[in-house]
Amino acid sequence: MSKKILLSGVKPSGSVHLGNYFGAMKQFVDLQKDYQPFIFIADYHALTTIKNKEAMEKNSFEIALDYLAIGLEPENVTFYKQSSIPEHTELAWIFNCITTMPYLMRAHAFKDSEAKNKEINVGVFDYPMLMSADILLYDPDIVPVGQDQKQHVEFARDTATKFNRIFGEAFKLPEPMILDSMKTIPGIDGQKMSKSYNNTIPLFASNDEIQKLVMGIVTDSDSEVPENVKAIHSLLIDQESLERLYTEKAGKYKDLKEALIADLISFVTPLRERREALISDKKKVLSIIEKGTQTAKVKAEEKMKKVKELIGVLS
Ligand code: ADP
Ligand code: TRP
Repeated sequence: MSKKILLSGVKPSGSVHLGNYFGAMKQFVDLQKDYQPFIFIADYHALTTIKNKEAMEKNSFEIALDYLAIGLEPENVTFYKQSSIPEHTELAWIFNCITTMPYLMRAHAFKDSEAKNKEINVGVFDYPMLMSADILLYDPDIVPVGQDQKQHVEFARDTATKFNRIFGEAFKLPEPMILDSMKTIPGIDGQKMSKSYNNTIPLFASNDEIQKLVMGIVTDSDSEVPENVKAIHSLLIDQESLERLYTEKAGKYKDLKEALIADLISFVTPLRERREALISDKKKVLSIIEKGTQTAKVKAEEKMKKVKELIGVLS
């Protein structure tokens, strides 16, 4: 029996951190055994915020390296760039024509930008329609996303339903799969780890960086257990060893931080080595993406043909 299709997009938005890895990226790698994954780099979504050629090129290539380094298997996964498949933007236009402005005004991302009085480009406003196209072109069974993206997957379901009702059956309704959000990984200042708070430990940090960042983790000196250190440590070792360590070394913040540094370095080293090997074999990375693009193209073209037939522009 063929495996169910999993599809998700990742925005190339700069250097990834432990929060991204444990909160999202790792779960794609774990899921790839049970599903047929389509994972793409959402560069046209990133264009809503990145307006710089070098940054776009660098971030897009780096996110590909990151995902391959953490273990996405090129044999299993269809890995491609959104911008390489023009059907994404083409279908988004068709969806625009069956979607009303008040409906898009309900999007959380739009409402947040508006509440903050940000200058909103049309791409930000239309973001959910491009995302609906990303999803519906490939008939995925599930779309794993963080909690913040759940509404977008619901928009894709609504859009599929609306198209099917107006023009005839073309799209399968995808199910969102909300990534395990139980764990919000704290940053070195104790707030949620996030690029926007400048409190991250980059996933591919060097040993020196790890050393410096972990030593700088803010600890609450009233307690025997440095909770921020322990929360990060809990991602790397099993519960029993964790409890033993934090009981034995209660109050000894420096020892506990050193233990975390050692465990982080052992965890990151093989990932970093894989990433470095890929950097020196750029051709291999490009060929993986090229192969993914070919596979995705076949599906996207087939779906667009059906859509064009149904809306009456083919003959
Ligand atoms: P950032 O906040 O650094 O900009 P993104 O919003 O790009 O991160 O997040 C990308 C993915 O990583 C999302 O699925 C999000 O849920 C997950 N993620 C980001 N930060 C954390 C965190 N501190 N803990 C758990 N998951 C996180
Ligand atoms: N909007 C998603 C994010 O910011 C990225 C994305 C774009 C996506 N298209 C998608 C995710 C399609 C799932 C399916 O994280």
